[in-house]
Amino acid sequence: MSVNDLLYAYGKTFFAVLEKNHANIFSLYSGPLEMLASIENHIHVEVRKLYPGAELPTFRIIQQDDNSLEMMYYSDSSMYMFTKALMEQTFAHYHENSRIELEMVQENGTQVRFRIYKEPHAVS
Ligand code: HEM
Repeated sequence: MSVNDLLYAYGKTFFAVLEKNHANIFSLYSGPLEMLASIENHIHVEVRKLYPGAELPTFRIIQQDDNSLEMMYYSDSSMYMFTKALMEQTFAHYHENSRIELEMVQENGTQVRFRIYKEPHAVS
């Protein structure tokens, strides 16, 4: 298994831990895009207070509207596939569908552009 596949799988299962231990955070947001747009200025700010040594990534919002969010991810850890898994699970948490595109701005994954789209539900 590649490191990226492992980080992706880890993110998928780790999300359940966030849901269990921090359910109150999810109830603060009306949907996945609202929550993801708040990681940098709200969620990880609180995390820093709880765990002073935490090594957190930086997210910078480039563009945002009702159905999409473009964000830059910066981290020396290059955990962008962990990030992608958490983003997908955030959508699942709110029963929404997503499409997430990654663009490697730095080849080593320390800077990655995320284009996140809320997709319509399939008509059955
Ligand atoms: C309830 C919500 C959340 C909590 C409590 C939380 C907390 C944390 C904590 C404690 C760490 C580890 C720091 C360390 O190892 O020192 C971390 C890392 C991380 N978090 Fe969050 N987080 C939350 C939501 C999210 C979401 C939704 C994303 C998705 C974009 C995200 C992205 C990341 C990433 C990518 C890392 C890995 C570090 C890196 O890439 O440099 N977090 N978070």
